[in-house]
Amino acid sequence: MITVTTASELRDVLTAERRAGGTVGFVPTMGYLHPGHASLVARAAAECDSVVASVFVNPLQFAAGEDLDTYPRDPEGDARTLEAAGGDVMFLPHEDEMYPGGRSAMLTSVAVSGLSARWEGAARPEHFAGVCTVVAKLFHLVGECRAYFGEKDWQQLAVVARMVEDLSFPVDVVGCPVVREPDGLAMSSRNVRLAPAERAAAPVVHRALRAGADLVADGEADAGAVRRAMAAVVAEVPAATVDYLEPVDPRTLEPVDRTDRPVRLIAAVQLGSVRLLDNVGAAPGGTA
Ligand code: PAJ
Repeated sequence: MITVTTASELRDVLTAERRAGGTVGFVPTMGYLHPGHASLVARAAAECDSVVASVFVNPLQFAAGEDLDTYPRDPEGDARTLEAAGGDVMFLPHEDEMYPGGRSAMLTSVAVSGLSARWEGAARPEHFAGVCTVVAKLFHLVGECRAYFGEKDWQQLAVVARMVEDLSFPVDVVGCPVVREPDGLAMSSRNVRLAPAERAAAPVVHRALRAGADLVADGEADAGAVRRAMAAVVAEVPAATVDYLEPVDPRTLEPVDRTDRPVRLIAAVQLGSVRLLDNVGAAPGGTA
């Protein structure tokens, strides 16, 4: 695996790959890679001739007061993880390479309205515009590719897929399943910030989602009943604060009244300093 830090080096490597007839897989990340990220790289390696992963903590998607400065970083460990998972190129740009003159010099922003407004967008108003702007820029640098995103960030996946559709990027967006710890906690770079007692309590989010999915599978068609059942599970952990815990339409992300068809159960729960995001599919008669 090679590491490149500039857009021109990245273009050169990918131009050579495409001249040789190879397809390109792309995995955008913010680093501090764990097996969830590695699963995206492994899937890309299985489906594409050459795999690029970007490691860039994107300042545009952090609001003032969020954890940009303390976001965990480990580029050497990331290089090892990428290589082991089958990555060919690590794109590790410095902030100046992505935003010459600093982020305040960026006058252009890409925003997906509607889909970005609720849930994470309500909690973090500038977040998805920051994500879409950097992902659009990375897509332009990488060019035609299959791009792999985790279902862990279900709303991000929906927003990026919509941006690609609306703006005709030459990119196939591929969603990949959530990778979990053995106790059900969805893997996340920020989980290292959980204190031991918080880490022990954190699987409650997945337990709540599973309880909701089981109810839907058993035929509970009232979304309110599903919501209340999930909330009751999280309430077993007094330190956990629910931001949202909702059955939604899997594509529009609008809340649903009825769960008599496939839905996505989405969660954001604050535990200590960590905002835990998770989601599962649910459908009458079985998991969606
Ligand atoms: P980051 O949080 O590093 O995640 C990079 C990719 O890994 C995302 O597509 C995310 O959904 C996926 N991922 C994270 N944890 C996962 C898990 N447990 N199972 C499966 N996939 C998982 O998401 C971002 O970075 C940024 O917003 C980015 C898209 C890179 C733009 O800056």
